[in-house]
Amino acid sequence: MANKSIVVLISGSGSNLQAIIDAIASGQINGRIAAVLSNKADAFGLERAKTAGIPQIMINHNDYDNREDFDKAMIDAIDAYTPDLIVLAGFMRILTPVFVRHYQGRMFNIHPSLLPKYKGLHTHQRALDAGDTQHGCTVHFVTEELDGGPLAIQAPLSIQPTDTAESLQQRVHSMEHTIYPLAVEWFCAERLTFSVSGAVQLDGTNLPPEGYQFIQE
Ligand code: GRF
Repeated sequence: MANKSIVVLISGSGSNLQAIIDAIASGQINGRIAAVLSNKADAFGLERAKTAGIPQIMINHNDYDNREDFDKAMIDAIDAYTPDLIVLAGFMRILTPVFVRHYQGRMFNIHPSLLPKYKGLHTHQRALDAGDTQHGCTVHFVTEELDGGPLAIQAPLSIQPTDTAESLQQRVHSMEHTIYPLAVEWFCAERLTFSVSGAVQLDGTNLPPEGYQFIQE
């Protein structure tokens, strides 16, 4: 099976990008990151890419009059690398339907909640405010609905009585660094797929709506 080509989109620290770089280096993922694209020139993830010898693309959304033109510029830059997979790793722009459709079935996002709960921001505080006993993170395929695409892998964590938004954020973030490389590994191995019929499959079997449940030992 050919080594898959991946383009990672970031806006910030890029710790998930780093987890994927490390999982490629260790041989866990049969793929390579062809480029890292950022819409922020000062994103630390660009430094991580540089250190790993990965080409960096910088496209500032402020240089474009509208989302459509910005997304078109991104598509042109990304497709120059003929990627098999697009990984959104803390990319903080809303994508146009044209962009999303272009990469449908081959674009992942990670979100810090047990989707479909808490789409959008401030997920940790919202879980605490709701009195939830569980929180976590989810890798999903990207569709036109923000944080609404079909779920691939979900990692639940117990909320402790002493938890704050910060402590939860840290535990969830470190769990992201396990399940995001795992999703990329399975995609690159052609084990995890999102078909045109809308089904997410792992090893040829439909996953439940909540995705594969990753339970930490
Ligand atoms: C993560 O919390 C992820 O869930 C969200 O953006 C953040 C990115 O963090 N989509 P990092 O830049 O990978 O450290």
